[in-house]
Amino acid sequence: MIKKGIILAGGMGTRMSPLTKAVNKQLLPIYDKPLIFYPLSILMLAKIKDILIIVNKGQLDQYKKIIPNGKNLGINITYKEQPSPKGLPDAFILGEKFIGKSNVALILGDNFFYGQNLTEKLLNCTKLTSGAKVLLHKVTKPELYGVAKVDAKNKIKDIKEKPKKFLSDLAITGLYFFDNKVVKYAKNLKPSKRGEIEIVDLLNKYKKTNNLYADFIGRGGAWLDTGSIEDFYKTSAFVSAIENRQGLKIACLEEIAFLNKWVSKKEINNSVKFYGRCEYSNYLKRLL
Ligand code: TTP
Repeated sequence: MIKKGIILAGGMGTRMSPLTKAVNKQLLPIYDKPLIFYPLSILMLAKIKDILIIVNKGQLDQYKKIIPNGKNLGINITYKEQPSPKGLPDAFILGEKFIGKSNVALILGDNFFYGQNLTEKLLNCTKLTSGAKVLLHKVTKPELYGVAKVDAKNKIKDIKEKPKKFLSDLAITGLYFFDNKVVKYAKNLKPSKRGEIEIVDLLNKYKKTNNLYADFIGRGGAWLDTGSIEDFYKTSAFVSAIENRQGLKIACLEEIAFLNKWVSKKEINNSVKFYGRCEYSNYLKRLL
């Protein structure tokens, strides 16, 4: 079982500048809440309560203002600063102590997932005991993503980063599940031409031992980009459309904690006080 998770929430946010000059991308709003709430909600839906958030050096205080420690969510949140963006697998090098002897999930801080049966799928992924598993999603422009070719038993046979020649239209999303070998593998990676250690190289280590599996976000689910300003806006519009139609919030952390029975009314009331008079607090009050 995977009971620990890492959110990689640093990065330069180059494509979103000047918005990201003073504020980290993951603290910018997707409609009515900061982007970081969405990947955090995914780990919580996967019943992962022990969470490490990796942030840029110097941005810890910003994050702690909105997510101090997880107490009001019934979870345990620790932070670690990344001195500079060295690549996605750096999460496992920085997180070595946090991971210890456990298996671990990684979600990129700017990834948005939504859809029917998602929780069930997540819980299934956390059952991983050895090897690695990634979630794939069909896209129209595979040349923009890391993509994977899969066999009939959902084993990954080939992966390529931004392939010029068509390999598959299944993009590798930013949610991964690894056994404990990930720490050792990450430490042995060499930087690529662009000077970063690469998630594709890490996944290839699992593929070599025939231990890399896929699951799928089907057509009833959404995996949206938030990397560019246009994508950011589109994801906001998606959340707004669904929330206003249903009167239910996506990624309301307190609601997930409450439904998971990790917190009682007392903690929800604390959160209402913490957020102050706002629409989000009103939603929490209605929940009670
Ligand atoms: P990227 O999309 O590669 O980078 P970015 O978010 O900084 O954006 P840009 O390309 O516009 O500069 O990163 C994906 C996610 O992983 C994002 O949430 C930032 C995070 N990240 C880190 O926290 N540390 C890292 O070393 C890297 C490479 C990414």
